[in-house]
Amino acid sequence: MEKEELQAIASQLKHPTGEKGIEMANMMHETNINMTRHSFLNLNIKGGNTILELGHGNAGHVAFIFEQAENLKYYGLEMSELMFQEARQINRNFVSQKQAFFSLYDGNKIPFEDESFDKIVTVNTIYFWQEPEKLLSEIYRVLSQNGVFCITFAEESFMKQLPFTQFEFELYSTEKAQQLIKKTSFKIVDTETQTEKVKTKTGELVDRAFTTLVLEK
Ligand SMILES: C[S@@+](CC[C@H](N)C(=O)[O-])C[C@H]1O[C@@H](n2cnc3c(N)ncnc32)[C@H](O)[C@@H]1O
Repeated sequence: MEKEELQAIASQLKHPTGEKGIEMANMMHETNINMTRHSFLNLNIKGGNTILELGHGNAGHVAFIFEQAENLKYYGLEMSELMFQEARQINRNFVSQKQAFFSLYDGNKIPFEDESFDKIVTVNTIYFWQEPEKLLSEIYRVLSQNGVFCITFAEESFMKQLPFTQFEFELYSTEKAQQLIKKTSFKIVDTETQTEKVKTKTGELVDRAFTTLVLEK
């Protein structure tokens, strides 16, 4: 594949736009659903929780979250206008019932008050964070005192085999992610790495290792 094509794939994954962005988001939703579900299950969602997700993509998984408990509120934050629109469209019933709320932000400053959320989650976004320590301190600020924050990412050992990750991506091993967290006020309460089978673009099944860090204040 040409350098330009690889670069285009990387930019779509970082910031989906246009017709291709919709296709890419559908593909991501399918390929990453196991990582996403695993991450939400680690939040230990309880009835009445208010949940924030950073970088939800098309948010095709939001119905799954509402199956976890009663009286939940879900807030989604995106940097991609296209994903914000797609998420609102796919989840229009939850939006009109005021159970799901979607907003755009700049990727740095979280537009919510201190301690607004019981649970915060982000899946496959850490690679694109512009200022990781600053964003983590923002997440810390908006998480409630007894809150839980889960970060899920595919391991560097797997990701570096994908030729497009040389552009736009900052790759993380478990150790590198743990080192980053140690620079913040978060406590790491669990680190779990799993391997799953995923389909490549050419249809073959490969092993993907991914990690969830479970963090508390
Ligand atoms: C690779 S996709 C992952 C989507 C979905 N979470 C998944 O795992 O399938 C990355 C998404 O995160 C968004 N994004 C990138 N940087 C972000 C940031 N700093 N905060 C929130 N979202 C971000 C992108 O717009 C894109 O929709």
